[in-house]
Amino acid sequence: MDQSELKKVAAERAAEFVEDGMTIGLGTGSTVFFLVEAIARRIQAEGLHIQAVATSSRTADQATGLGIKMLDLNEVDHIDLTIDGADEIDAHYQGIKGGGAAHTLEKMVAINSHRNIWIVDESKLVQVLGKFPLPTEVIPFGCERVFQRLEAEGLHPHFRLDADGKRVLTHNKNYVIDLHMGAIKHPHLLAHFLDSQSGILEHGLFLDLVNTIVVGTQDGAKVIKAR
Ligand code: 5RP
Repeated sequence: MDQSELKKVAAERAAEFVEDGMTIGLGTGSTVFFLVEAIARRIQAEGLHIQAVATSSRTADQATGLGIKMLDLNEVDHIDLTIDGADEIDAHYQGIKGGGAAHTLEKMVAINSHRNIWIVDESKLVQVLGKFPLPTEVIPFGCERVFQRLEAEGLHPHFRLDADGKRVLTHNKNYVIDLHMGAIKHPHLLAHFLDSQSGILEHGLFLDLVNTIVVGTQDGAKVIKAR
């Protein structure tokens, strides 16, 4: 199986965790794409009544098109279960997200969820985080100064650019600065530093958040209980 098929294996297994009556959070990305299709098929086949909060307009558009009832995060007092992709997961089940520039909304949905499941192909499992550049979302005002501070800290910042060389804009019309810093030995310390920087709206370190990880492997879906 290629990487895309492994993502599908993980997504389809994770869709089985959705139960009738749930309010679910839907992440963003190519793995979540398969998840939304699988959930829509279950709604059709089993008559499940669920409602969902999306972490991007991409996911919201897909889910709406497939007949899934969508709500805004402001309209729900909690989310039962959120299922999302990830860019890297380390040996302690800490993660990097934001490859799709949706990490601010993804983190808000995740922290308002009773349970979080990540769905990944096996290439996303690593010993130490950091090979995947760590995304941050920065507001345009003063972003060059934020960049300068990150550079001075030795975090190797790069503004994320699109195919035309323009700065990528997030849902909130902010920029993404990716940190190409290599191995992140102390993720909690780094998260604390980034949390304290004015101008950084959010970063892609998702620590102590995930409960279950569903991994697509050549032998099928593997379910890992993280916490
Ligand atoms: C988007 C994300 C995605 O979950 C992450 O990038 C994984 O994407 P994919 O499933 O396409 O590999 O964090 O901001």
